[in-house]
Amino acid sequence: MKDILTAPFVVEMEKTTANMYRLGWDERNGGNISYLLEEAEVKEYLDLSRVIRRIPLMGVKQASFDATPLEGKLFLVTGTGKYFKNVQDDPETNLGIIRIGKGGKEVELLWGFRDGGRPTSEFPTHMMSHMARLSVDPENRVVLHSHPTNLLAMNYVHELDEAKFTHTLWEMCTECIAVFPEGVGVLPWMLCGTDEIGIATAEKMRDFRVVVWALHGVYGAGKTMDEVFGLIETVEKAAQIFMLIGSRPRVNTIKDEDMVKLAELFGVKYRKDFLHLK
Ligand code: 13P
Ligand code: ZN
Repeated sequence: MKDILTAPFVVEMEKTTANMYRLGWDERNGGNISYLLEEAEVKEYLDLSRVIRRIPLMGVKQASFDATPLEGKLFLVTGTGKYFKNVQDDPETNLGIIRIGKGGKEVELLWGFRDGGRPTSEFPTHMMSHMARLSVDPENRVVLHSHPTNLLAMNYVHELDEAKFTHTLWEMCTECIAVFPEGVGVLPWMLCGTDEIGIATAEKMRDFRVVVWALHGVYGAGKTMDEVFGLIETVEKAAQIFMLIGSRPRVNTIKDEDMVKLAELFGVKYRKDFLHLK
């Protein structure tokens, strides 16, 4: 068996959490990541028949919650209450590799959470988001939740209408429309760690890879860690420009017609209904 600490997916998770912490997006235990792994890649590092313990899921209504499509799937996931700041120094305490049990109502721990820890409290929302993304993109692997500073600030001063919110973000950096042409979904403030927010997030995830949780943070999804990180990074950069401009009069702006030219140049399918075209 190879050393799990050298596995590319563990190293990638360590680097991503460290970057997010340094960018100030994930204070304290803020944020969580789940990474769908291939059995073949994990088998090189772990004996998959050795279950350390079984962990029931928190925050779900056992009767109605159903993640059957994920049964038997393996995930690398951040722990609840764990700090992104600490992942790189002690991955075995702050991360876990789990296999989804029957109906997704419990998970089997195969590695990690050494101090008796458990997956993020948001794991039900992650599972529902994975199912939603996999139904539209079978290659989706990563779901990530974070509290990016400027995006959060923008929530307090911008209307939470997703067409208007997306339009403002697209206006802030020329290439935004090419990076997230489907726009961003926006949910109102909801209680986190519940079935309700999981269902609402998953519904949005069918149309968007980025979903803003108003006054809380953001969810992102994608095929690779780089894709998701890049999405959140671009949205956060746009929000930063918006907050830097503040209430100063706008002298110049990117026109909707110019956004169309860019989307066409990149050959992306964009939300035309989020623009005001003549
Ligand atoms: P966890 O510590 O359970 O991952 O929760 C962090 C968070 O951001 C909740 O929304
Ligand atoms: Zn959060």
